[in-house]
Amino acid sequence: MKTIIEPFKIKTVEPIRFTTIEEREDILEKSGYNPFMIHAEDVLIDLLTDSGTSAMSAKQWAGIMDGDESYAGARSFYRFESVVKDLTGYAHIIPTHQGRAAEKILFTLLGGTGKYIPNNTHFDTTRANIEYSGAEAIDLVIEEGKDPETLHPFKGNMDIGKLEQFIRERGAENIPVGMMTVTNNAGGGQPVSMANLREVRDVLKKHNIPFILDACRFAENAYFIKLREAGYSDKSVKEIAQEMFSLADGCTMSAKKDALVNMGGYLAINDPELAQAARNILIVTEGFPTYGGLSGRDLEAIAQGLLEVVDEHYLKYRLRSIEYLGEKLTDAGVPILQPPGGHAIYINAKKFTPHVPAEQFPGQSVVCELYRFGGIRAVEIGSVMFGKTDKKSGEFIPAAMELVRLAIPRRVYTQSHVDYVVELIIEMYKNRNSLKGYRLLYEAPMLRHFTARFEPIV
Ligand code: F0G
Repeated sequence: MKTIIEPFKIKTVEPIRFTTIEEREDILEKSGYNPFMIHAEDVLIDLLTDSGTSAMSAKQWAGIMDGDESYAGARSFYRFESVVKDLTGYAHIIPTHQGRAAEKILFTLLGGTGKYIPNNTHFDTTRANIEYSGAEAIDLVIEEGKDPETLHPFKGNMDIGKLEQFIRERGAENIPVGMMTVTNNAGGGQPVSMANLREVRDVLKKHNIPFILDACRFAENAYFIKLREAGYSDKSVKEIAQEMFSLADGCTMSAKKDALVNMGGYLAINDPELAQAARNILIVTEGFPTYGGLSGRDLEAIAQGLLEVVDEHYLKYRLRSIEYLGEKLTDAGVPILQPPGGHAIYINAKKFTPHVPAEQFPGQSVVCELYRFGGIRAVEIGSVMFGKTDKKSGEFIPAAMELVRLAIPRRVYTQSHVDYVVELIIEMYKNRNSLKGYRLLYEAPMLRHFTARFEPIV
């Protein structure tokens, strides 16, 4: 059998709304050419993010009904805690309303001026929370991870030589924590190998620096290890994930990804003093330690989602459905980041619209055309998200890559939705010379991509 089918059948459906090109041109203009500003109802296929967009299972919905909403000591918390403890092995499980709330607590405690926090590649909210604390966020991904075309089985790996050099130069005392993002979202949803995680752990341990995983997509990463790393093909994904977690001292988690829920997250750590300090902040900012910004029903859904996500039929389908989209685009010559990642395909906008220079945001150009032409919403991960203007010289500093992410929500779209996306992008690629550059009209001081406004350069 060649076709890998969706390992579920559909019990509840939501209609999607069709619009015309003319309507979408009007919507784009009113949205400041920023897809984050478009009403979701005006989107046909929403590939903006895989975060919080999963379809929940019947068992998760049953958990929603079964949630214990007690303020303190809810049964749902203890179920959640026991599932997360069993998976991660960490001693202290602190629920938060989403991943960035866990990050905020961690960096409030560990960040601050003069500190440096290395990662393979920090994602936007992680970088922003570190910078907000006054610390510096440092990306040390391997060189292969910065080039959309280079093939490598683990493009999310950290450059160990650079990590050692960085620690020597800046001093271990100024590095309160080292991180690894699995999979590496900003670098194309690329996995990290177990061998690399172990090396990072060894280097950090030598310098007494704690190691925290950004574990949003841990199950996708674990399945890549099973497929690609010697010695893991016979291990279960859960065992692989447990080994990944065992190498670190804790994790931040956005449950909106690999816990298959619409809202939630946690900070899980071994250090009892850090956990106590984190709970104290949690009470001020999120809630009592047995709910931390979530309802009892959310905790039930996360617990159930974490059991379902390590199912290998699910992960086989998940990775294959992303790869399928990647293959079809590659066969038609559309430039994408290779190889396909775990949760998304990333169009290489530098190649898609070579006539649009980085300062005119080629990724934004592709994102706007995807919506105008086909009602598809995607997100720019390039110079809008990560580019900067040098404060002193006024010089534009582009991002390392100009990407457009087509993130696939979990268990939401079928193969024919994906086939439509493929047909549309191929057609768009044929007419790529008509795509225009964009000029920024407004930008917020932080995380500007969410609220920026643009105009096309005509
Ligand atoms: N870390 C990574 C690697 C992420 O991808 C995200 C969110 C977060 C942390 C923050 O989690 O949203 O629950 O606060 N990424 C989403 C995305 C938003 O579209 O990739 P959160």
